[in-house]
Amino acid sequence: MIFEQFRVGGCLSYLIGCERSHAAALVDPEISLLERYVGEASAAGLRLEYLIDTHTHADHFSGTHTLSQRLSLPAVMYRSTEVSRVDLRVDEGEELLLGDLRLEVLHTPGHTSDSMCIVAGDRVFTGDTLLIQSTGRTDLPTGDPVAMHASLFDRILALDDRLQIFPAHDYQGRSSTTIGAERASNPRLQLRDVHAFVAQMQSVSLSMPVHLTEALRVNRTGGRSVAQMIDEATRAVPFMSMHELGRRLREGARDVTILDVRERDAYEAGHLPDALHLARGQLELRIDEIVPDPTTRLVVYCELGKISTLAVATLRTMGYLRAVALDGGLGAWREDHLPLVTTGAEGLRPISMDSR
Ligand SMILES: [Fe+2]
Repeated sequence: MIFEQFRVGGCLSYLIGCERSHAAALVDPEISLLERYVGEASAAGLRLEYLIDTHTHADHFSGTHTLSQRLSLPAVMYRSTEVSRVDLRVDEGEELLLGDLRLEVLHTPGHTSDSMCIVAGDRVFTGDTLLIQSTGRTDLPTGDPVAMHASLFDRILALDDRLQIFPAHDYQGRSSTTIGAERASNPRLQLRDVHAFVAQMQSVSLSMPVHLTEALRVNRTGGRSVAQMIDEATRAVPFMSMHELGRRLREGARDVTILDVRERDAYEAGHLPDALHLARGQLELRIDEIVPDPTTRLVVYCELGKISTLAVATLRTMGYLRAVALDGGLGAWREDHLPLVTTGAEGLRPISMDSR
């Protein structure tokens, strides 16, 4: 078996492949590593055939949907999952064939109702069901400690003690364990009584994942995360540095028009000299009024440089083909102690044609 483990933060993901046929699969791919997966698979001479999510992730962004679209590969999940973008739904007791490898599906609800573990040869990918010296939590959407007890004691611990365990998370830099080691020393596997186990799980006090709602939205629907939206806009627009814009302002250059897309109160509290104002929320509706000439060379800024990047991407799709985003936003401008203006009148007047 060709095997590689990837780590980003506490998330673990896996590339597994058949040495004879070079067929391969990714298990729990994470969105920030897509290029690495493809590069490593290519370097190993592997041909990706499946993208497998062991469950609906609530604490990070799955890379499965993006990679599935990019490479035309099937996204695989457990049959009952609420995730809409799944191409291949698998059920308890079924297998996926990866050349000479057999990927066996165990339905192991508890962390989520759609959790499954994948047994492949001498190892088992346990998702967030069984972790190293811990288990997945059961307090997130569709979690169920009673189901988790059955999955752990009746399914996972029924496997061969020699099987290596590769989980979807580890926060202490550990890479694997075995069924036997966990049976002997995992603190959460020491209480076999279901009531004691459930009480133990219910006493676990963990904060909610930072991006819980966004991660569930993205992972269930295949929609984009905010970071993806900004990344895509960043690739689609040019930027002007603060240094370059400052130089132009100092030299009195009249070939650029500056547009502030923050809220009005922020604009009135301090903005760049001669900047027009149009809040991002009104951009599409009022841009023709504020900037009537679509050939205007527009430099757009916001506080942090992200909203302005999205705004410029929108303006370019609307035909403002000379719109650029200020690299870094007004926050960075302010840090450089460059001058701001505090009047609020500029946004109300339409741009004059001679200011192009
Ligand atoms: Fe999870």
